[in-house]
Amino acid sequence: MSMNLQWYPGHMTKARRAMEESIKLVDLIVEIRDARVPYSSANPDLAGLGRGKKRILVLNKADLADPRETDRWTEHFRNQEIIPLAMDARKRGDCTDILRLLDRLAAEKKEKDLKRGIKNRPARLMIAGIPNVGKSTLINSLAGRASAKTGDRPGVTRGLQWIRLNASLELLDTPGILWPRFEDESVGLKLALMGAIREEVLPAEELALEGMKLLKERYPLALTDKYGLSEEYAPAWLTELASSQGLLQKGGEPDTLRAAGRFLDDLKKGRLGRVTLESPAPGEE
Ligand code: G4P
Repeated sequence: MSMNLQWYPGHMTKARRAMEESIKLVDLIVEIRDARVPYSSANPDLAGLGRGKKRILVLNKADLADPRETDRWTEHFRNQEIIPLAMDARKRGDCTDILRLLDRLAAEKKEKDLKRGIKNRPARLMIAGIPNVGKSTLINSLAGRASAKTGDRPGVTRGLQWIRLNASLELLDTPGILWPRFEDESVGLKLALMGAIREEVLPAEELALEGMKLLKERYPLALTDKYGLSEEYAPAWLTELASSQGLLQKGGEPDTLRAAGRFLDDLKKGRLGRVTLESPAPGEE
């Protein structure tokens, strides 16, 4: 597999600088990752940038992830003294949970400030993560209105706006956007499969075959159950899939490109089941 790493954008330095500026202003950082790829959707820079700040780690899109794996990841992060929270950012109840947690942290900060004789002000927080993990969705849900635009342009600086969530919390309305680990090909692959980066890292058919192979390793029956594909990994899977789904070209040939698209879409939307593409490795953040 040879991966085209063109997707690594040149704005990284600028985005990082913007993050550094915003981080100075906040007390709490909510990092969002995709619960289906909690390692690959990490910001490698955030641990360093956020040193000294309280960090909450949201494993978002948990509705699409394998619940047993999400439990393992949650446990893994808790052992590292990061506060993990699995959620669906679109759900009101889940937003209530995170608000409750944020309130608790704000109260702790208030107490500390009072002890040190610092005049009390609301705790300020920012939401950060790689593109497409649900930052704007969470900001919108927390703010209770459609104030944050979806779509990302890293490094774009606007005037900073604070959204008052309650008496003790203020949220930066612009999410911090950083890029994933790009030196590792499997990271690019998994992010493309989850739709976090555009699929052009590989031609669609190659990406789909890699995705099928990965899925087969982790969920051996998923492809057979959903599409009736043969049980062994086969490069002919796309042809099989095209035939079984009736995806044919004009001359009646199996349309493997459309089959690839079908698979990638089904995988992303959870129609192949709730899947998580990686498990925690001991001792790794
Ligand atoms: P971003 O700001 O981090 O870039 O992400 P954004 O909020 O724009 O969310 C990206 C997509 O993910 C949106 O779908 C959004 O609805 C969806 N999403 C956010 N949180 C969750 C979650 O917890 N569960 C699920 N299932 N989906 C979530 P979209 O606009 O339809 O884009 P797409 O699905 O076509 O990528």
